[in-house]
Amino acid sequence: MKPVIMAGGSGSRLWPKSRAALPKQFLALTNEQTMLQNTISRLDGLDMEPAIVICNEAHRFLVAEQLRQQERQNGGILLEPVGRNTAPAIALAALHAQLGGEDPVLLVLAADHLIKDSSAFHKAIGHAQELAEQGKLVTFGIVPDSPHTGYGYIRKGEQLDQAETGFSVSQFVEKPDLATAKKYVDNGDYFWNSGMFMFKASRYLEELEKFAPDILSVCKQAISAESHDLDFVRIDAEIFASCPDDSVDYAVMEKTQDAAMVPLDAGWNDVGSWSSLWETAENKDKKGNATVGDVMLCNVNNSYINAEQRLIAVVGLDDVVVVETKDAILVANRHKVQDIKTIVNELKAQN
Ligand code: GDD
Ligand code: MG
Repeated sequence: MKPVIMAGGSGSRLWPKSRAALPKQFLALTNEQTMLQNTISRLDGLDMEPAIVICNEAHRFLVAEQLRQQERQNGGILLEPVGRNTAPAIALAALHAQLGGEDPVLLVLAADHLIKDSSAFHKAIGHAQELAEQGKLVTFGIVPDSPHTGYGYIRKGEQLDQAETGFSVSQFVEKPDLATAKKYVDNGDYFWNSGMFMFKASRYLEELEKFAPDILSVCKQAISAESHDLDFVRIDAEIFASCPDDSVDYAVMEKTQDAAMVPLDAGWNDVGSWSSLWETAENKDKKGNATVGDVMLCNVNNSYINAEQRLIAVVGLDDVVVVETKDAILVANRHKVQDIKTIVNELKAQN
């Protein structure tokens, strides 16, 4: 099995730590390893080929250096000249994986997830492998605890095995509106899509040909013009620029008849925002505060405070996020941190 690690996102909701030059997957947010490094070392103990990493070419040295620190062999670092979202990224990786005439099962992972229980994750990978080898496009489903509108929702279909480790998918809906998400959570038959997938390279490409043939044909041309430069595989910029932008969820998973779901109960979190880092922090004090660095608190509850360079002192506030870096400070209501995107977009427009 070949891991494919998608590392081309921008992680804008973790501003000011996550920047265009250093998006969150390359930051150490939960322990001493970066999110990318955790994604790779989480697979230790499984029988895996070296991972293919696909990222923006601007981040090539970050990726190469982070893999080198772990003394990892890699299965190729694919460099996208521009981001066209995950459907093309996975297509490029699948085509690259087939170059030697092989058709490996791919374990497609996001580079920015946190999974607390690796052994439960490994078991789920084992169950998924059986289904992927039968030609299924496997998702990993998480029992939802809120009507989050940034996730895909999977309706559990019929059981595919005796042990209840795999199900068919009777519906896949990417990022529904709030009213629909609430209906799904109340219904009880829906899981969140974790954003990790497993399928044979050929099955993904066949489904892409059916549902998004334009993406497949551009990716085929772009990869046949790929050029190698040490560990780096460069995708042709001119050709790839004409690729439609779409995610695997909309382009393939919502449409395929061959999806399957393996439930995953492993302390999964996609570390999408500062509030999810607060939620998963293991070192909270008695008042529910998670702190990093030099921080002083007085009458503060349920807050996340992260000091990089200077002392942060907070007095008499609840549910706040304060993140300090060399050149920017964020102060936010912990329940409103999704809106950081607005600030990041304004900053982009100014530059
Ligand atoms: N190489 C590459 N190129 N990687 C990309 C690109 C790209 O253009 N765009 C995004 N990625 C990477 C991100 O770095 C991340 O690791 C992963 O692909 C998923 O992209 P996101 O942008 O974070 O997707 P999302 O969070 O909106 O939605 C996905 O994940 C949810 C769970 O976290 C979907 O799969 C949802 O259905 C799912 O619920
Ligand atoms: Mg995400």
